[in-house]
Amino acid sequence: MNAITSLASTITDRVASQGFYYHQEELSLDEFYEVAEMLGETVRLDDVELNDCPTIQFGKPAGIFWHNDGDIDIVGWNCVRQESSGGDLLLTDLRQVVSEMEPSDVEILKQTPSLCPWLSVPERKVPKRIPVISELEDTLWVNYKPRQIRPQSEAQAAAFETLKQKVDARGDGCYSVPIQPRESLFVDNRRVLHCRDAISKGSTRLLKRVLVVTDNPFNKLYGE
Ligand SMILES: [Fe+2]
Repeated sequence: MNAITSLASTITDRVASQGFYYHQEELSLDEFYEVAEMLGETVRLDDVELNDCPTIQFGKPAGIFWHNDGDIDIVGWNCVRQESSGGDLLLTDLRQVVSEMEPSDVEILKQTPSLCPWLSVPERKVPKRIPVISELEDTLWVNYKPRQIRPQSEAQAAAFETLKQKVDARGDGCYSVPIQPRESLFVDNRRVLHCRDAISKGSTRLLKRVLVVTDNPFNKLYGE
């Protein structure tokens, strides 16, 4: 087994068991894309940096709200340039957060609709609205978009607010990853939220992002 194949195996295992894998050894961009291809199907490559586009939230110096990236299974970042201080990627493991919620609130969130941005291939056919929380066997999926939740009752709105407060509190399950040039981070996007605090207006921080889909599990849950 060569080094990249072995690394892909490690990433797959660690993302499944702990929700993310922070690779602190150097990876070239080519190696990063090569290992991402082994995790599943790469459906999009992006640059994450500051920009003037009014519709791209992650391009603003102000902090980015907690979210996950639509119908994607694994999101990876490889750092090209980083701030001398700050610019960390923050993660929150929702398995931990949800385990601390009242079971009745979790059940309500399984009925609470939320818009799910389509970032993967159209053939995947994820419904445009899915519940905030879904579970299949022992796999947890949380579609976390505070601005795109569509509660149908006060109870649903209140249950989401409870979840949001726990996420915003950055309690158990929250990690700060000070990703540095050539380092990489991979997360289970179905279960782990990401965000970033504010950075300087002149920041030249640049991350390369890859969006990967794996075993198309949404189809198993929601059907065609
Ligand atoms: Fe994101």
